Amino acid sequence: MMNKLYFLSFLVAAVSAQSGSGKTTRYWDCCKPSCSWSGKADVTSPVRTCNRQGTLLTNPNAVSGCDGGDSFTCTNMSPWAVDNNTAYGFAAVNISGGNEGSWCCQCYELSFTSGPVAGKKMIVQATNTGGDLGHNHFDIMMPGGGLGWFTHGCPAQFGSWNGGAQYGGVALVKGCQWRFDWFQGADNPSVNFKQVTCPTAITNVSGCTRRDAPKAQAPAQGQVSSSTQAPTPSKAPSSCGV
Ligand SMILES: *[C@@H]1O[C@H](CO)[C@@H](O)[C@H](O)[C@H]1NC(C)=O
Ligand SMILES: *[C@@H]1O[C@H](CO)[C@@H](O)[C@H](O)[C@H]1NC(C)=O
Ligand SMILES: *[C@@H]1O[C@H](CO)[C@@H](O)[C@H](O)[C@H]1NC(C)=O
Repeated sequence: MMNKLYFLSFLVAAVSAQSGSGKTTRYWDCCKPSCSWSGKADVTSPVRTCNRQGTLLTNPNAVSGCDGGDSFTCTNMSPWAVDNNTAYGFAAVNISGGNEGSWCCQCYELSFTSGPVAGKKMIVQATNTGGDLGHNHFDIMMPGGGLGWFTHGCPAQFGSWNGGAQYGGVALVKGCQWRFDWFQGADNPSVNFKQVTCPTAITNVSGCTRRDAPKAQAPAQGQVSSSTQAPTPSKAPSSCGV
């Protein structure tokens, strides 16, 4: 009986741990992320959202800015470099065999397997999903990425939209520079991925931790601030607004 129970719980753990190979795309649509609604998964609190002024909203039921409301993606959800080979960020995901109950606020370590970033790793927390995502698909949030940049969400948050600097502020410009610097302008690289415990540096930004998560990991590389450790941007493309 004990053996059988042990085996069963092992099987459940093995089945629920998500890993495999997958694809990436990039987006930043400014809309309220789906994991910001309450009741999506068993989490400490839904993913934070911000209003047009960048102030944190406390009401998880606030209507998305993309549906005429005042709830938008917070600009500090831009990706950032921890060191040359590690970055942190957020993504919309769709992973085989799962649903938002298993994805929301789960973290995944992505090991890039193609393009200029092959060999680098990025840990993303799932904050969103999307009907246009296929299986094992990570749509990584980065300012300037994807069609959403130009459509109604970002203009609703920031007013007329010229690429972000003027309206989105420093966090968006830095996130956009990350794309051409740490990420080397990679175009939808493929990945191997595995489920990992979220670093506190990530959950501190999202405000969301899964209740089934083991205790948070020690921050990578002693968490030296990105301003001292991240490589200096070599390019400041005009698409970043600077
Ligand atoms: C990061 O990469 C750049 C350019 O390849 C190099 O000059 C720098 O020393 C690296 N920094 C670290 C912390 O490895
Ligand atoms: C995930 O992707 C599959 C395949 O494209 C799709 O059938 C499914 O509806 C998606 N799930 C969600 C929650 O979007
Ligand atoms: C997370 O936030 C807590 C509370 O503000 C802070 O003490 C801690 O240093 C932060 N951790 C990281 C890794 O940023």
